[in-house]
Amino acid sequence: MHRGNKSQARSGKSSRPPGLSGREIGMYYKNLARQRKNSDTKNEPKIKLSCDVTVPPGVIMRVNEYMDQFKLAREAGQKHFDENFQQQFRHMLNVNFEAFIEETKKQNKDLNLQNRSLDAHLQDKQKERLQNADFRARFEDRLKLPTMRHATDVIDAVDKNQVVLIVGSTGCGKTTQVPQLLLDDCIEKGIGTTCRIVCTQPRRISAITVAERVSYERAEPLGHSVGYQIRLESRKPRERASITYCTTGVLLQQLQSDPLLHNVSVLLLDEIHERSIETDMLMALLKIILPHRPSLKVILMSATVREEDFCNYFNRCPMLRIEGVMHPVEVLYLEDVLAMTGYQFDCGNNKRSQPRLDQSEHRNMIEPYIRQVRSRYDNNVLEQLRVPHSEGCEDIDFIANLIYYICNKKSDGAILVFMPGLNKISQLHSTLKNPRSPLGQRWRDHLLIFPLHSMLPSAEQQSVFKRAPNGKRKVIISTIIAETSVTIDDVVYVINTGRTKVTDYDIETNIQSLEECWVTHANTQQRKGRAGRVQPGVCYNLFSRAREALMSEVPTPEILRCKLETIILSLKVLHIDDTYAMFQTMIDAPAQRTVSTAINLLKRIEALDINGNLTPLGMHLAKLPIDPQVGKMILISALFRCLDPITSVAAALSYKNPFYTPLGQERRVDEAKRRMAQKMYSDHLMIHNTICNYRESVGEHRDRDFCYNNFLSHTTLQQLERMKSQFAEFLCNYKFLTSSNCLDQSSNINSDKIPLIRAIIGGGLYPNMAHLRKARQVKNRVRAIHNMTTDDGRRVNFHPSSVNSGETGFDSNYFVYYQRQKSTDLYLLDATMVFPMALIIFGDGVDSGVIDNRHYLSVAKTYYFKCSPETVSVVLNLRSNLGLLLLEKALHPAPIEENSDASKLIKAIELLLSIDDKMGDDYEIMSDEIDNI
Ligand code: CDP
Ligand code: MG
Repeated sequence: MHRGNKSQARSGKSSRPPGLSGREIGMYYKNLARQRKNSDTKNEPKIKLSCDVTVPPGVIMRVNEYMDQFKLAREAGQKHFDENFQQQFRHMLNVNFEAFIEETKKQNKDLNLQNRSLDAHLQDKQKERLQNADFRARFEDRLKLPTMRHATDVIDAVDKNQVVLIVGSTGCGKTTQVPQLLLDDCIEKGIGTTCRIVCTQPRRISAITVAERVSYERAEPLGHSVGYQIRLESRKPRERASITYCTTGVLLQQLQSDPLLHNVSVLLLDEIHERSIETDMLMALLKIILPHRPSLKVILMSATVREEDFCNYFNRCPMLRIEGVMHPVEVLYLEDVLAMTGYQFDCGNNKRSQPRLDQSEHRNMIEPYIRQVRSRYDNNVLEQLRVPHSEGCEDIDFIANLIYYICNKKSDGAILVFMPGLNKISQLHSTLKNPRSPLGQRWRDHLLIFPLHSMLPSAEQQSVFKRAPNGKRKVIISTIIAETSVTIDDVVYVINTGRTKVTDYDIETNIQSLEECWVTHANTQQRKGRAGRVQPGVCYNLFSRAREALMSEVPTPEILRCKLETIILSLKVLHIDDTYAMFQTMIDAPAQRTVSTAINLLKRIEALDINGNLTPLGMHLAKLPIDPQVGKMILISALFRCLDPITSVAAALSYKNPFYTPLGQERRVDEAKRRMAQKMYSDHLMIHNTICNYRESVGEHRDRDFCYNNFLSHTTLQQLERMKSQFAEFLCNYKFLTSSNCLDQSSNINSDKIPLIRAIIGGGLYPNMAHLRKARQVKNRVRAIHNMTTDDGRRVNFHPSSVNSGETGFDSNYFVYYQRQKSTDLYLLDATMVFPMALIIFGDGVDSGVIDNRHYLSVAKTYYFKCSPETVSVVLNLRSNLGLLLLEKALHPAPIEENSDASKLIKAIELLLSIDDKMGDDYEIMSDEIDNI
């Protein structure tokens, strides 16, 4: 075989052996590239110097002046660290897990909660309560629940065992009744004050609604014997003889200060069948805690999904089954619904929305099925089944039509619709509220519609449980949340679109994504069950029997399909250093490589030091409810006072981007995005601009038009604003901000300094970097071809939906990104152009050296930038000062005061970044190494 050498390959395609066909040519170059790569790794790694980042002497002088002022002030020793945090932090470094729990054991040795006079008082109150008419009426209702019929079994089992697993069909009263049974039993026995019950819920909304329900059943206001605690919001009950419903996240946080749960006498882990990463981890932690706390009772509660797994995990603990009385539920599939309603899909391809289901996959599935059932359904139904968007929730009008059909033909009873996420929920909501069809207009006023989603504000949630008044029909449009964790009694009709949102993680590319996909048999089974609670019901599955045959049995546990950075940080704050070993003890252990990838990332962003120990920064990041990379970005934005733009970016990265793309309108959406991007070459700054424009439109009462014209989702934008406020509240709680308002002027002094903001985005998304070698406009000038690689050497492209995809005239060839996606090619879903200086200032592994008599600064042993020796020294100096400042701020959280000495450092950084912005044309574009294949 012909072996091309480098210079031949670079000089042109002439070196290619003649007579190769299309595919062979591709293979030839692929082999060539592989050979080249191998020979590169064999020899010394070759350093190629990139563009020159020399800082002019005048600027260096001023930067040095600023730094001197900063240093002088530090040496004057005016700093006062936050004693509390510092102590916590020292403790963190010095104490391992065993020592940590021994210490708390000692502290709680003589803990005795019992108070006999209070016990007697509680006993009396309990008797008195039996005279209360409200209580008695509600108690009568409670007695109808299967759990109450097993009351003595439950109390006995808990009495005799440390761990009990309760399995019962959804709605049988586990969540609301079990804690009450145990509390009331203690009170009656005169030991109420020793009883503190905590019950974890997977979601905020269920913690609140259940707590409200239970205090209603007990005929007392929330905050007496029953309360809840969720992130940033709580109504705590009394200290003793109480039940607290909290989210799993809150319990994990409590373990940081009370690792053996000395403040809890009974812990209920609810909804463990969902296999969320947090309940999996809590179960593993409990196995450590239990031997140290013989008096702690643990009750695991699960719907009937693979319950044997939990029983085995806890050494075959006793299992109590509570069967509910279920009425029969008739199950219909898409083909039956089509036959029944006669609905015709609109096959014009103008208004179908994302995501488009794979057409050929659909054909392969449906054609054999159609042949099977040809005799049973009429031709029109079979034709409709062939339409790819007939399944799921692609056609909102179809779902609305089915709702009208039920209203028209079926007896009373609420309708529960399962949708994948907030956007689909709001689409159906608005279709039902503002119907275009006469049929819809006829039913509009008969419907009482409730959206149900964990992100919706928590006010007024209780009304979804009330029965609809006469003449009205309740329609609940919900995510998976109504599947097991929220029970609404009067549901008779379930519409199961079969779709849900699931995170997925690709270990090869280290990419995590949130995608809509088909549910599993287990989900469908639970959803069906929701229809038969009060009377025989009907479940309408909006997918064919053929689709059902392809569905998996049970969902994959979350820990096997997500990134582990966040969970590792939370283990580290619990003093669990050997995270590898800890993961091995979980029901399902993630792959070693996923763990090491996560640990490496945490090291690179300096949340962990080189030994894998938590840094002060890492300790803060562990407390923020978001991805640590994004967390670092908002922390820096608080210190640097450019909160609003960066929280916009962070919210969009943690939730979703507010644009939607109707099929066939891609180009118009791209235009809208480009307008918003204002030539900033950044998908992230584009989001910030969009939110600013949106606010303006709200101020002028033209927000509906604004959203419509720019393909923006109103719901998503509102949600982004809500998340921004949450971030600000958090940062304010931890004293990184003085105001909890994102728009507060003092938090936004630097918010219009685009180079600084660009650099902070770069610092946050680092080490996700990409280098563009060559960009070429395609003839039609809409798209461009980019020759680009990420720092791990993979070829990537801007995703067509990125504002950078059509651009060529970048001022810098370096980019940071948050997500890569692999389809036909590897794509950067979002990217921001950054200048080398930003990577040099905010990146890690920055080094300097000399090659061929030229000085350079390097980033992560990947990019090497030429520069003067003076630049090397000023930049390294600045970096070490920035490191000190960040450490100091982590120990003593506070925004950097204007005109303070620390602010001089920001000035110095700004100055360095500002020359970058002007360097533009001086950039030397590297000759491309690889020919376009
Ligand atoms: O936990 P499990 O699914 O076994 O049942 P649960 O949540 O304790 O619900 C028992 C009963 O309480 C159901 O019939 C619900 O309708 C009712 N409930 C309610 O009315 N309001 C709530 N916020 C929660 C439950
Ligand atoms: Mg429950």
